[in-house]
Amino acid sequence: MDRYLVFGHPVRHSKSPFIHTLFARQTQQELEYGLAEPAVDEFAQALRTFFDQGGKGCNVTVPFKEQAFTLVGRLSPRAKRAGAVNTIKLTDDGVLLGDNTDGAGLVADLKSHGVTLADSRILLLGAGGAARGALAPLLAELPSELVIANRTHTKAQQLAAEFHDLGPVIAQTYEQLAGPFDLVINSTSASLQGELPPLAPALIHTDIAIYDMMYGASDTAFISWAKQHGARQSMDGLGMLVEQAAEAFTVWRGIRPGTKQVLRELKRNLGVI
Ligand code: ATR
Repeated sequence: MDRYLVFGHPVRHSKSPFIHTLFARQTQQELEYGLAEPAVDEFAQALRTFFDQGGKGCNVTVPFKEQAFTLVGRLSPRAKRAGAVNTIKLTDDGVLLGDNTDGAGLVADLKSHGVTLADSRILLLGAGGAARGALAPLLAELPSELVIANRTHTKAQQLAAEFHDLGPVIAQTYEQLAGPFDLVINSTSASLQGELPPLAPALIHTDIAIYDMMYGASDTAFISWAKQHGARQSMDGLGMLVEQAAEAFTVWRGIRPGTKQVLRELKRNLGVI
């Protein structure tokens, strides 16, 4: 049977096996999907061993995405832009192809929630790996402006300069931000420490959409905060998780699974509904 897995550390709580097993059942594909948690300095060896032993493809998550970028034989244009790889496929000619489906997953999830990106003014919080992966797919949707704000301003500036050729992207400090924005996307890892990005509450209004790339069984700290300040629409990163997986599944199997039912089952599994 064709074998796939996700590499990460820690990865025990990953929902990817659950999601891909449902995709396989839905599309009647014969495959198995597991987990691998190599020590941080043993990822390269573990990756090699997996493919030497007949693995067909894998996902890569924290903290291995940047390293995976350097280990594959070929990169998709979107992985090259993201500087990180979350999906690897063994091609028919025996090359490891590195791809990145995170940004496409974010955009697909935003669209599935009815969020309009064209001509919208978007605020992206954070300038780490998650922000980098989102920039090209967001700019491809032709927003009127995309503003990056980051605690370490120089990182936002670097990112804006790097993606400037793709669209109207600028960097501002949290203090410089001036509304109105149509959409705020939180790509920071602040909530992992139970913190909030230092965003002025005045930027939240009833007509704004809030997206947090993080997710949990209850509202993330950022979503609770935005709701308190009157945001009408808020979304967490669970849908992005399912959509990036669907995109990876499509890369591997050449068949696109439906995501709605799988997202519903995942929510049930997590106890969200
Ligand atoms: P990821 O790959 O998830 O993006 P990362 O590359 O470590 O992770 O980036 C984390 C991002 O969250 C960074 O933009 C970081 O800001 P700095 O560049 O200033 O470190 C941001 N971040 C983390 N904790 C934060 C906090 N408490 N408030 C604001 N931003 C925070």
